[in-house]
Amino acid sequence: MAVATRIEEIRHEIGELAKTSRGPQQLMQSIVKLLHDRVLKYNWVGFYLLEPGANPPVLVLGAFEGAMTPHTRIPLNQGICGAAASSGHTVVVDDVNKDSRYLACSLETKSEIVVPVVVHGKVVGELDIDSHFPAAFTSEHQALVQHCAQLVGEKLEASQR
Ligand code: SME
Repeated sequence: MAVATRIEEIRHEIGELAKTSRGPQQLMQSIVKLLHDRVLKYNWVGFYLLEPGANPPVLVLGAFEGAMTPHTRIPLNQGICGAAASSGHTVVVDDVNKDSRYLACSLETKSEIVVPVVVHGKVVGELDIDSHFPAAFTSEHQALVQHCAQLVGEKLEASQR
């Protein structure tokens, strides 16, 4: 199946999950499972959430699929994760070994994407995906991961109403 068609299909399934899940926690768990199971080059998929009230701010590992990571708490001045959360922008790294910010999770990881999750205009967390393949996150993949992060942000907003 063509890559674009497959991504469209996954995007549709994630949309259905967002409609049927009971809350943000359940949605995050279903998203990491679906992405990890269905996209073979997504080898580690997880959410980090900013710890409420923490000063200085810290990202705490939430729902994830893949091998356990040593990085369960990441300050905003560290890692690709810290860079995405502090800038509020998606960070895509095609070759993690050439990026001095990178915090190693697995020796097999070659590329990474981190997309902030935003609620009422503020970063509250992020969706992080590692791949064993270099430059895995093409523009189609970036759009898919950004869509997932956006749906979680909307679900968090709805849960706070
Ligand atoms: N590589 C990330 C750390 C998290 S692990 O990949 C799960 C980073 O550089 O921030």
